[in-house]
Amino acid sequence: MIDALFAGGPVYTASAPGKLMLFGEHGVVYGRPCLVTSVGLRVSAAVQVHAEPWLTISTAASRATGAPFRVPLAQLGAALRPETAFVEAVAARVLKLAEWQTGLTISTDGPPLSYGLGSSSAVTVATAAGVAAALGLHLNADELFRVCHAAVIDAQGKGSGFDVASAIHGGTIRFENGRATALPSTILPLMIGYSGAKVSTRRFVDGVGRLRERNPILVERMFDLIAELVEQAQQALAQRDWVRLGDLADINQGLLDALGVNTPPLARLVFAAREAGALGAKLSGAGGGDCMFAVAPAPAEHAVKAALASNGQYVDLPLGVPGVSVTCRP
Ligand code: MEV
Repeated sequence: MIDALFAGGPVYTASAPGKLMLFGEHGVVYGRPCLVTSVGLRVSAAVQVHAEPWLTISTAASRATGAPFRVPLAQLGAALRPETAFVEAVAARVLKLAEWQTGLTISTDGPPLSYGLGSSSAVTVATAAGVAAALGLHLNADELFRVCHAAVIDAQGKGSGFDVASAIHGGTIRFENGRATALPSTILPLMIGYSGAKVSTRRFVDGVGRLRERNPILVERMFDLIAELVEQAQQALAQRDWVRLGDLADINQGLLDALGVNTPPLARLVFAAREAGALGAKLSGAGGGDCMFAVAPAPAEHAVKAALASNGQYVDLPLGVPGVSVTCRP
């Protein structure tokens, strides 16, 4: 959306997708691989350069207060406010990389409910791509990843960066230690269920960290098993072996339960999907709430959708959509 905030002159608008973690959550924080696919829940950032020494930032949260936020360039990135933390953090980093001291107007837009499907990483990537384009700074995918991952760490303190990589590359990728590998595109017979919001991702990542400190041998072995599971899931995806993918989802769900991140609403959705004929189901992401997915090719598809809808919410979004893109209105 290009709103009244922008004066004449070029406006660069970048759009980036959300993500659905497939296999490997939590282990990926400790150097193991994961598989992730992008989802068609896109966030956009429109950016214009101006001559004043401040950033004007308009987000859904700032629009709710009736006015955009204004951050002096000299204070940018110093004290991130919750409503604009990811936008401020990444704008500060891209400006520094470009060695520019210039004002910007940034207006972000996205769906009202993001289901925990990666809207923070999507807004970070869209803002970085929009600001870089507005400054004439060319960033390749690795450079964009590094600047966005650093900004996500500034804003939320922790994170493997798999969600940032997904927003950049789109499609389905394997992610490990900051490196993304694109997997062949295939139509994934997955149904997403939403269990309701959770308190904070950070809380569940920290909880697994504490469990690992108390039980290092067991938790490291679970992470190794999860890594092995990711290898097998990658093969199952390549072979479109949905029965095996379903088994792997069920096994991964058991391991995530053992890590302490399952909840009754997530478990209800998982069992309801299995009972309705899904080949397997697991929570997706940090746990504690948000989403799960079921492996449900035809003919189970309709019964599984209905089971998810009656035990939480069925989330109908396309998977494996393209990554970040930028357009310019001259
Ligand atoms: C959260 O969606 C996935 C985790 O693995 C955290 C991360 O990778 O940043 C739990």
